[in-house]
Amino acid sequence: MDNKDQVLVTSASLSVNANQAKALIVLQGTEGPSAIDVRTLYANQGILTYDPGFRSTASCKSAITYIDGAQGILRYRGYPIEELAKHSTFTEVAYLLMFGELPKTGELSAFTTSVNEYNLLHDQVLSFYRGFRRDAHPMAVMVSVVAALSAFYQDSQDYNIPEQRVKAATRLFAKMPAIAAASYTYSIGRPFRYPDNSLDYSSNFLQMLFGKPNTPYAVDPVLAKAMDLLLILHADHEQNASTSTVRMAASSGANPFACVAAGIATLWGPAHGGANEAVLKMLEEIAIPENIPQAIARAKDKNDPFRLMGFGHRVYKSHDPRAAIIRDTTKSVLRHLKMENDPLMMVALELERLALNDEYFIAKQLYPNVDFYSGILLKDMGFPSRMFTALFAVSRTAGWASHWLELKAEKGAAINRPQQLYVGPNLRHL
Ligand code: SDX
Repeated sequence: MDNKDQVLVTSASLSVNANQAKALIVLQGTEGPSAIDVRTLYANQGILTYDPGFRSTASCKSAITYIDGAQGILRYRGYPIEELAKHSTFTEVAYLLMFGELPKTGELSAFTTSVNEYNLLHDQVLSFYRGFRRDAHPMAVMVSVVAALSAFYQDSQDYNIPEQRVKAATRLFAKMPAIAAASYTYSIGRPFRYPDNSLDYSSNFLQMLFGKPNTPYAVDPVLAKAMDLLLILHADHEQNASTSTVRMAASSGANPFACVAAGIATLWGPAHGGANEAVLKMLEEIAIPENIPQAIARAKDKNDPFRLMGFGHRVYKSHDPRAAIIRDTTKSVLRHLKMENDPLMMVALELERLALNDEYFIAKQLYPNVDFYSGILLKDMGFPSRMFTALFAVSRTAGWASHWLELKAEKGAAINRPQQLYVGPNLRHL
């Protein structure tokens, strides 16, 4: 992507220590905040910008996802998440993210054929699982197995060739359900199950997760739809920590399997994708509505490291549009499963009600995020909480693969190498 897709709306000028101001270009994308182009600032003025946490830093240009945190807007390639959640499948959304447009009929069937061709795991890959203890966290297994995939596809590793990039991205998208399902079945001592290509992506995923060799497995269409919706909602989210990690690794020319393994490692953190597991633990500790005021008091106490997990977001300062969709889906799945009175759901709904009326949360613009209800839904669909982030990784692989494709297609993309503000010792001698 070169400068043609930015419009110079104005210039900025920067004067350092009262020296003569130097003009800086201001770039404006198609939507969202404009950006001062500081690429030449250090070379021309010998000064850096300082932005740990990247609160005010655009690390790249991207055409994949757009978020307006103030309005609670999330769009994949321009389509509102609410419309995609209602009208599309996860396979269609993955195609949209990776290739920029929703697939036409022929394109969808060709893509589905490729996914079905690649969704098997090499038998040697399955032997990696047997090196783990049965109680290994699924994310530890997935980081390892996904990185190991780079040792299996010698046939197409010239990622300067677009066709080979698309093959690698499609392989990753296709194989993640089997990798995640195997990390679950291995942990409970159940034999691996192979994909069944007579099923759609999410139904196939459920049968690999919950099917048993001694009884036929009937996919519950309500749960398959809920799974597909969760995969759509978690698929991409601009330059979040794990996607930025994938881009960082991709900028060095690392292969896509190693890049996605790095993304999985980052997603594992409780401040990021690990939050859904942490939310359920928090709700279980609160247990009853009567304990909610104490939890809210702790979350507000600066001396207490406790935070309301599933609340707050770096970007969303009004509401996370995904949270409302998941809350409503959770309610309908609980009705379907005749579990409307799930005590944790009662606690979550009351906690949301109280927090949204609490001055602290209002002042700090803290609202439920994507993780607040997803844990309850996944638990009631039969998933152990240790699998929650693994499921997030299956979904986010569509986004990670899209960002990898976008970065690899960029002409002259430089390696990401941030500067620093040095605060260590001055020169000294032994
Ligand atoms: C995901 O980036 C993405 O897009 C991520 C994600 C994606 O799809 O990829 O959306 C997925 O990671 C969702 C977020 C899941 N994490 C959690 O639910 C963990 C709990 N949330 C917080 O840790 C926090 O809100 C973050 C990490 C999500 C955002 O942190 P920020 O933007 O760095 O905000 P901050 O830590 O600077 O907090 C601002 C203030 C602080 O108070 P002050 O220092 O200003 O007095 O708000 C407070 C914080 O103490 N605060 C909270 C809080 N979150 C922020 N107080 C209590 N409970 C919370 N959850």
